[in-house]
Amino acid sequence: MLTNLTIKTLMNHRSIREYTDEIPSEEMVETIVKAGQQAAFAGQLGSIIISREKDKHPFGAPLYFIICVDIHRMQKVMEKRNWKMISSDAAMLLFGLQDASYMAQNLVIAAESLGLGTCYLGFVPFMAEKLILEYDLPKKVLPMVGITVGYPAENPLVRPRYSLDFSCFEGKYPQLSNKQIEKAMKQMDEGYLAQDYYQDGKLMITLDNGHEESFDREYEKAR
Ligand SMILES: Cc1cc2nc3c(=O)[nH]c(=O)nc-3n(C[C@H](O)[C@H](O)[C@H](O)COP(=O)(O)O)c2cc1C
Repeated sequence: MLTNLTIKTLMNHRSIREYTDEIPSEEMVETIVKAGQQAAFAGQLGSIIISREKDKHPFGAPLYFIICVDIHRMQKVMEKRNWKMISSDAAMLLFGLQDASYMAQNLVIAAESLGLGTCYLGFVPFMAEKLILEYDLPKKVLPMVGITVGYPAENPLVRPRYSLDFSCFEGKYPQLSNKQIEKAMKQMDEGYLAQDYYQDGKLMITLDNGHEESFDREYEKAR
């Protein structure tokens, strides 16, 4: 595999959920927002709300960005031109989700390239009503995803991903065999186990065939 600074930034990505109190400079904020905006777009259908109210943010991050699917601005521009919107709301939503996603990911990569840590928060659209009130979002602006940003106060390992043969298919989508699926699951489980992921997250997986759990808390404490 080839490498360069951009590839290194991408391959070293890991979500950060603990932050120092240091506040990223205004120049950094401007840079990552502009990098976000520079993503490819279908109709510039993404916009960004910045919050600096640390106490309200997930993980107490100094910065919180809410990336929105924004059809409102397009409507305003169309009105000025005396043009009618003919695309359906569904079509606009699908394009908007794409524009906002690429914007979000550009912002994340830019932040990480400057030494900042980030974490996406996917519950944002499920609490849209609250956010619409809190940030005065007009009609046709949907909060799509949140991103916490700040200086990392933890240094987690890079998380494993499915292998390429389970993620990228040449020409046609294959019929996935049981063996392939089991191999992919085993690889992920082993990667996560090696990082104590399940243990750190206190995550328990139901065992097959009513098999009794033999995991010993005393053993865990002794480690
Ligand atoms: C759309 C989306 C929503 C996410 N929502 C959450 C979330 O609510 N809480 C959280 O701690 N992490 C969240 N994450 C981060 C993922 O858990 C994380 O990206 C994934 O486990 C892979 O780990 P990595 O980012 O460290 O490589 C989200 C990521 C994405 C892309």
